[in-house]
Amino acid sequence: MGLISHWGDLPQHLPPGSTEKDLQFRYNDVDASSPLLFSVFPDRTMNHHFSALTVIIAALAIAGCSKEVPQGPHPFEPNLVHAYKYHVSQGLPMDQVLSDADWTVDSLLGDANEMRLNEELAASEEDLATVVDFEQLKIGQQLYIDKQCYSCHGYTGDGRGQNAGLSNPYPRDFRKGMFKFKETELNSKPTREDLAERIRNGIPGTTMVKLPAVTDEEVQALVDYVIYLSWRGELERALIDDAVLELDIEGGDRLINPSHQNSTDEEEKELFDESWDIALEYAADIGFAWLEAEDDIVEVELPTDIPVPSSGTEFLAMMQGEDAAALTASVKRGQEVFRGKIASCSKCHGNDGKGDGQTADYDAWTKDYTLAIDIKPENRDALIPLLARGALQPQNILPRNFAEGVFRGGSDPEDLYRRITVGIGGTPMPAVTFVPGEFEEPDVWHLINYVRSLGAEVAAKNEKAAAEQAVAEEEQSPESEEEK
Ligand code: HEC
Ligand code: HEC
Repeated sequence: MGLISHWGDLPQHLPPGSTEKDLQFRYNDVDASSPLLFSVFPDRTMNHHFSALTVIIAALAIAGCSKEVPQGPHPFEPNLVHAYKYHVSQGLPMDQVLSDADWTVDSLLGDANEMRLNEELAASEEDLATVVDFEQLKIGQQLYIDKQCYSCHGYTGDGRGQNAGLSNPYPRDFRKGMFKFKETELNSKPTREDLAERIRNGIPGTTMVKLPAVTDEEVQALVDYVIYLSWRGELERALIDDAVLELDIEGGDRLINPSHQNSTDEEEKELFDESWDIALEYAADIGFAWLEAEDDIVEVELPTDIPVPSSGTEFLAMMQGEDAAALTASVKRGQEVFRGKIASCSKCHGNDGKGDGQTADYDAWTKDYTLAIDIKPENRDALIPLLARGALQPQNILPRNFAEGVFRGGSDPEDLYRRITVGIGGTPMPAVTFVPGEFEEPDVWHLINYVRSLGAEVAAKNEKAAAEQAVAEEEQSPESEEEK
C-alpha cells in the first residue's frame, strides 16, 4: 500500500511569509500515532521541536537522496487533501478511512508495482477490462516518466509534481476524473482521442507543450495510463466520500475491514462483503463512464449560410475575399450577442473580450478543498493544514483573453462550438442557454467569428511560425534523411 508522501517539495507550497511555526505544525497538529504522519516520517521518535531548517534539510534529504528511494516504480500516494479536508471541516478522524480506501483501491485496481484489474470487475458484463489496456500500462507508466509528465502531474496524477507550483493554470489533477477540453457532453469523460490530442500537441497557452517525436503507440499508452490514474484517484475519492456520508466514523465504523475478508465470524464476513460490493460498484461505475464517452460526443455541423473561417490565417484571407461582407456582418452580430444581457459573455470575458471581466473566481479543483468546506480560498491561514498536505495555493481562474489569439481546447470551429455550447468542465465557463428570437443556435457561429476576430492577427503569426517549425522538423527527421 502506498502510504508514502514525498513531502520534500512541500515548503514551496506554503504561503509566502510562512513561518517556522507553520512548518512545525505538521508535527504538533497531527496526532503523533497517525499512520499518515508515520508514513511520512518513518522515524516516529523524531523530536517535535526541530527547527524549521532541520525540517527542510530533512525533507530535501528524503526527496533528493537516491539511497533512500526504493527500487521499482514510485508508489501511488494517498489523497491526503481529500481525506484531511473532512478533518478540518468536521473534525472527523480520517486516517483509518484513508487507509481502508487505499487498501480497497489497491485490491481493485492494483498498485504501482502491479497494475491489474480485480477478477470480479474483469468478468463484469460491461467490458471493464477494455477501459484501459492493462498489458500496456507498464509502458505508459515508463513513458509518463520519460516524457516528464510526472514533473507536472505528479507520480499519482495528483497535479502536484515538482514543477506544478510554477504553472498557472496548475497541471490537471487527474484524480477528480474531470477534464476540460473534450468533444463530449459536459459531465461525460473525454474520449481517448481527446486525451491523445492534448498529449500529442500539448495545450497552447499553458505550460503543457507539444511532445517532440512521439509515436501513436506511445500516445495511446500514455492515454491508458492517464485513464488508469484517474480511475484510481476517482475511486479513492468516492470511497472517502462514501465513508463520510454513510458511516459513523467517530463511532468506529470502518469503510472496510481487510482482516475480515476471510473471517469465519458470519457477521464480520457479511459486513466485509457488503463493503466490498459497494466498492465494486463504484469502481465499475467509473470504468463504465469511460467506456460511455464515445456515445456522448456532441455532433457539430457547420452552417452553410454563415462563413466560418477555421484559423486566424483563414480569417484574414476571407476578410480580403468575396466573403468579406458576410463575415464582417457575422462578427458584428457576434459582438452584439457577446455584450448582450442573455449570453453575457462580456460579464466574464470583459467588454472587448480581453479576459478582464470576472477574474476573482476559482476552478472546481480549487473549490473542492476551499469553498466546498466553507473556507474562502483567500483565507490562507485556514488553508495551511491542507497546503501542508499537498493542496496547491489557490490561484484565480482567468476567463480567456481573446486578443492573445490562443484557444487551448483547439481552434477549429467545431472545437469552439463545443466549448461555447457545452461549457468547460471544472471552470466557471457555462453552457449557453438559447432564448428564441434573441439568442439562437446560429448566433454561436457569430460568436465564434467574433472571438476569432479579436486575435486573428496574432493567431495568423503563430500559425505561420508553427508551419515553418513543422517543415524544419520534417527536414531534420531521420526518415526524411533516408528519403534523400
Ligand atoms: C510543464 C508542465 C506539464 C507537463 C510536463 C505535462 N503537462 Fe499535462 N497539463 C499541464 C497543465 C498546466 C494542464 C492544465 C491546462 C489547463 O487547465 O488549461 C495539463 C493538462 C493535462 C491534461 C488534461 C486536459 C484536459 O482536457 O483537461 C492531460 C490529460 C495531461 N495534461 C496529460 C499529460 C501527459 C500525459 C503528459 C506527459 C506526456 C503531460 N500532461 C505533461 C502541464 C503539464
Ligand atoms: C461565468 C464566466 C464566463 C462566462 C459567462 C463566459 N465565459 Fe467563456 N470562459 C470563462 C473562463 C473562466 C474560461 C477559461 C476556462 C479555462 O480554460 O480554464 C473561458 C474560456 C472561453 C473560451 C476559450 C476556449 C478555449 O479553447 O480556449 C471561449 C471561446 C469562450 N470562453 C467563449 C465564451 C462565450 C462566447 C461566452 C458567452 C456565450 C462565454 N465564454 C461566457 C468564463 C466565462
